[in-house]
Amino acid sequence: MSIAQIKAKIISNQRLNGNYGHLEFESGLIAKHAVAGQFVNIRVADALEPLLRRPMSIHGVKASKVKIIYEILGKGTQILLTRKPGEFLDIIGPLGNGFNYPRLAKSTQATNILIAGGMGVAPLIFLAEKLKLSKPLVLIGARTKKQILCLQEFKALGCTLKLATDDGSVGFKGRVTDLLRIVLEQTKPLGLFSCGPHPMLKTVAQIAHENKIPAQLSLEEHMACGIGACLGCEVLTKTGYKSVCKDGPVFSSEELIW
Ligand SMILES: Cc1cc2nc3c(=O)[nH]c(=O)nc-3n(C[C@H](O)[C@H](O)[C@H](O)COP(=O)(O)OP(=O)(O)OC[C@H]3O[C@@H](n4cnc5c(N)ncnc54)[C@H](O)[C@@H]3O)c2cc1C
Ligand code: FES
Repeated sequence: MSIAQIKAKIISNQRLNGNYGHLEFESGLIAKHAVAGQFVNIRVADALEPLLRRPMSIHGVKASKVKIIYEILGKGTQILLTRKPGEFLDIIGPLGNGFNYPRLAKSTQATNILIAGGMGVAPLIFLAEKLKLSKPLVLIGARTKKQILCLQEFKALGCTLKLATDDGSVGFKGRVTDLLRIVLEQTKPLGLFSCGPHPMLKTVAQIAHENKIPAQLSLEEHMACGIGACLGCEVLTKTGYKSVCKDGPVFSSEELIW
């Protein structure tokens, strides 16, 4: 595993869809070694505040460029949005384990279902690119139409898309996990891959268990060090406590104790 702390040059950083940002930075090393599902830990400012780095999933890589997308939530992401092309960001990565997909990546037959809740689309685009030969089915859930991201990117990869919104402004009206239950009445996929809020992942795990389908879930715990040193992001698994930043963020659904 090659983890580096680098000063990465920002190539572009733009506001996206109102409350989101899309940032591209230069790092041949991270681009070369990144696995879908891994993340980078970004120091958003050179000042003392905010002290803690902000973890962001690797959204995609192209040659020596690495992309992330982020929701502007608090101080860290607000500062990140102000950072300009040509400036440098202190970044550690690639971190974590990532999804386990090499066997599936070669298959043109496999049906895989990717389930994203909100910002959970961020790592799943990178995964969809790796699984594109099998044209995965992608389910995206959000509160409302405006919060559904990356549709064109998934379409460009040949994915079939199904959407769910809480308010019914687009797609199925209800939770993406209810949509998943409906889809599974007609399809028996080889695997489920999911990223999103904790309650959603818990339901995906239950559905996977009921349908006897293996599922890989990417958790977004609050983090401090990001390298397994502070024990701040531990989750309980069948083999004891594990850190989301080092042993995860991707866990098999059967491994986790909810
Ligand atoms: C492995 C991993 C990958 C992630 N990938 C992405 C990504 O690709 N894009 C993205 O937008 N966000 C991602 N996140 C979440 C992101 O790190 C936080 O949203 C960000 O750190 C918030 O920083 P802030 O200073 O803007 O907000 P803060 O001021 O720190 O917090 C603002 C609000 O966001 C909530 N929040 C903070 N951190 C998290 C977190 N880790 N998970 C859930 N809620 C949080 C806080 O509870 C608070 O309500 C990821 C988190 C992890 C652990
Ligand atoms: S954030 Fe420190 S151990 Fe995971």
